[in-house]
Amino acid sequence: MKILLLNGPNLGRLGHRQPEIYGTTTLAEVVQRATDYAAKGGAMLDHLQSNHEGALIDRIEQLDYDGIVINPGALGHTSYALRDAIEGADKPAVEVHISDVFARESFRHELVLEGVVLAQIIGKGVEGYFRAIDILLEHAE
Ligand code: DQA
Repeated sequence: MKILLLNGPNLGRLGHRQPEIYGTTTLAEVVQRATDYAAKGGAMLDHLQSNHEGALIDRIEQLDYDGIVINPGALGHTSYALRDAIEGADKPAVEVHISDVFARESFRHELVLEGVVLAQIIGKGVEGYFRAIDILLEHAE
């Protein structure tokens, strides 16, 4: 099984950006841990972080994977284009938000990927990425 891990805008600065909200683990550490975690479950992982909606959609359109773990960042509140791409890919996808978006500003309460993702993991810190991998692995069984 091949898992595509996608991180959207501003997540490249994970570990440095607002650590009181997002923690001190860097994106490189998350990707390394997620790669090892997926490997233990017999899956390989490919990662892309982009600040550009279109780059994320271009990657989704490649369809060279079996499932998606995506932290869309703020695009998760706004991007119908990303939603359409995930729906169009027709692969299982799990959405992750590190912080508890429902306990934050009201504009973060809307999650536009709802309905096209298998599950949403919210506010579990970076552990949410590993839970998302578990969900994809269980779904593939
Ligand atoms: C985030 C939550 C979003 O509201 C925010 O724009 C992010 C990060 C999270 O992981 O908690 O960039 O997706």
